[in-house]
Amino acid sequence: MLSFISAKEAAEKWDISQRRVDILCSEKRIAGAMMVGNMWIIPSNADKPIDKRTIRYEKDKAVQLKPFVKWVGGKSQLVEELEKLLNENEETIYSKYCEPMVGGGALFFDMLSKYKFEQLYIGDSNSELINTYDVIKNNVESLIFRLNEMQMLYLPMDDNGRKYFYYSIRDKFNSIKLSKETSTEKASYFIFLNKTCFNGLYRVNRKGQFNVPMGAYKNPTICDEDNLRNVHKALQNVTIVCGDYNLSKDFVDKNTFVYFDPPYRPISDTSGFTSYNSGSFDDNEQIRLAEYFKQLCCVGAKVVLSNSDPKNVNPDDNFFDDLYQGYNIRRVEAVRAINSNGDSRGKIKELIIHN
Ligand SMILES: C[S@@+](CC[C@H](N)C(=O)[O-])C[C@H]1O[C@@H](n2cnc3c(N)ncnc32)[C@H](O)[C@@H]1O
Repeated sequence: MLSFISAKEAAEKWDISQRRVDILCSEKRIAGAMMVGNMWIIPSNADKPIDKRTIRYEKDKAVQLKPFVKWVGGKSQLVEELEKLLNENEETIYSKYCEPMVGGGALFFDMLSKYKFEQLYIGDSNSELINTYDVIKNNVESLIFRLNEMQMLYLPMDDNGRKYFYYSIRDKFNSIKLSKETSTEKASYFIFLNKTCFNGLYRVNRKGQFNVPMGAYKNPTICDEDNLRNVHKALQNVTIVCGDYNLSKDFVDKNTFVYFDPPYRPISDTSGFTSYNSGSFDDNEQIRLAEYFKQLCCVGAKVVLSNSDPKNVNPDDNFFDDLYQGYNIRRVEAVRAINSNGDSRGKIKELIIHN
């Protein structure tokens, strides 16, 4: 005999919302579903319908990808809030994902682990970072070989040995020019330095040379082989671009979910960290970015941007409220480094702005 389950039970079984089940029933996309009173009932043997909107991987098939570098301003704490925006409108299909200031990619890797997009675009103006994404995409085994070699040499060393090793890699990284021939070597130094330097910072001097001192990690994982191989597979259909965020213009259309995470507008005089590259990201840059944000909104894309809230320090500072007037501005709590050394942490508000 045919048995039925409620829409609520189907929602739990298929790991989608009850509202979504109701919509799918009314669109006649679940065979045998019937309206009884004002509720849908569904044959208990019905298959999970293939949904048109952003496709989420089944939990047991998802591979959890992690950022391969620690990156200042990493957005792991905001991921949940940002993901809600992707799923906010159950009727909207986002088949494309675009993150033109990707950094370490906290949100990007989370999205890549959970959702199946048809096309993805990532970019950043930091050429060494983008080179590393490229090498993971195209030459991961040589990279793993080099990283394992460095890890085997570095970890057993005493403090003096490690110090000598760290600074000689830093010198090589700064003296070797990035080219097709040196790309894998440079990517291996980039990851090594990120895992062993002070707080995983990437900071350069005016000449563009990486100048972060050595960190004090006892047992850093320099080569996370499994994650690198998983990232390699996942990057195969991702377009990786080095340069300004506005290069993403031709990629973005009305089916695109775009996320911007620009360098912070400093929350205090000492917390300012805006030099991922030798150029700085000042208020004029925030204004230029806001113009681009609005341009993409006009195309019909879903556009989301996060930043530090200047009201943490000065409640009268309306910089972003004025800049993004007419858009949704939410303030959410996050734990952040509150001085330039990153050794003092506190709860602050961050902004999530979206159309
Ligand atoms: C706050 S970080 C992004 C952090 C990232 N969300 C994460 O999870 O690690 C900002 C990034 O913007 C990049 N950037 C700065 N100016 C840029 C520009 N004009 N175009 C593209 N990327 C830029 C920096 O190199 C940096 O990686």
